[in-house]
Amino acid sequence: MTDRPDLPLLVTGATGVLGREVLRHARATGRPVRALTRRTAPPADADTHWYTGDFTAGTGLDPAFTGADAVIHCASDPRHPKNDLPAFRHLLEAARRAGVRHVVNISIVGVDRIPLAYYRIKRQGEELLAASGLGWTNLRATQFPQLLDGMLRPLGRLPVLPMPSRTPVQPVDPAEVAARLVALALGDPVGHAPDLAGPETRPATDLAAAWLRARGSRRPVLPVHLPGRAGRLLREGALTSPGHADGTRTWDDYLAARH
Ligand SMILES: NC(=O)c1ccc[n+]([C@@H]2O[C@H](COP(=O)([O-])OP(=O)(O)OC[C@H]3O[C@@H](n4cnc5c(N)ncnc54)[C@H](OP(=O)(O)O)[C@@H]3O)[C@@H](O)[C@H]2O)c1
Repeated sequence: MTDRPDLPLLVTGATGVLGREVLRHARATGRPVRALTRRTAPPADADTHWYTGDFTAGTGLDPAFTGADAVIHCASDPRHPKNDLPAFRHLLEAARRAGVRHVVNISIVGVDRIPLAYYRIKRQGEELLAASGLGWTNLRATQFPQLLDGMLRPLGRLPVLPMPSRTPVQPVDPAEVAARLVALALGDPVGHAPDLAGPETRPATDLAAAWLRARGSRRPVLPVHLPGRAGRLLREGALTSPGHADGTRTWDDYLAARH
């Protein structure tokens, strides 16, 4: 099925860190844009048609999906990972009912390797998508600086800041991920797209030290050896994708703008 420029793009999770950026890039295409949130009072916004729906409950989805050309799925609930699987099934059912041409999903580099509950669920979502019979594209990205920042904040109040030792990370700007997602959505479904990772790979301890400096803190970073299989995989670089360092905005760029 070919791209229908007159039909809307639907962005899910459109109030989130990534979704907000996807919305911005989707609007810039000049296409009609729809956005989905659980909020009963969505943001007031003349350029976007907002819908209220909940993927976990499976409610309110049909009005948003009906007539959409492509869906860029950024909705996720990492605090309740178990919700994401029924939510994903509801996404696919709604897309099938509506005859959506292309479902574009955001996933995470390392979901196929790292034994964390949220990552396992993301991987299962990828498998459901691949078996759905829908036109689909899946993009795996590395961590957003906002996520790392959010993780560092509570740790930064401790006298020393504990961080996993010898663990490389490769943060990528969500605006760059958003641009890639929108470009993918406008094209034909490609299945698994090449990863998108940030421009530099640095030890997590190094990022934490830069974060402390940016906040004017002299507290030290305490390297902590993470035990077990997950710790070993993290040290081996399971969160990184060095062959796909296509992002341009660095951690230091983020810190300079944020702090
Ligand atoms: N953060 C990272 O470093 C990173 C890296 C790579 C990939 N990703 C992936 O990128 C996606 C977005 O991440 P993010 O950091 O932007 O997350 P986020 O800021 O937490 O945004 C997620 C959005 O999902 C919506 N949502 C949650 N549960 C929902 C439900 N049951 N029904 C409908 N909407 C629901 C929420 O919107 P409302 O509250 O308005 O409903 C929320 O704004 C996720 O799939 C994540 O796995 C994230």
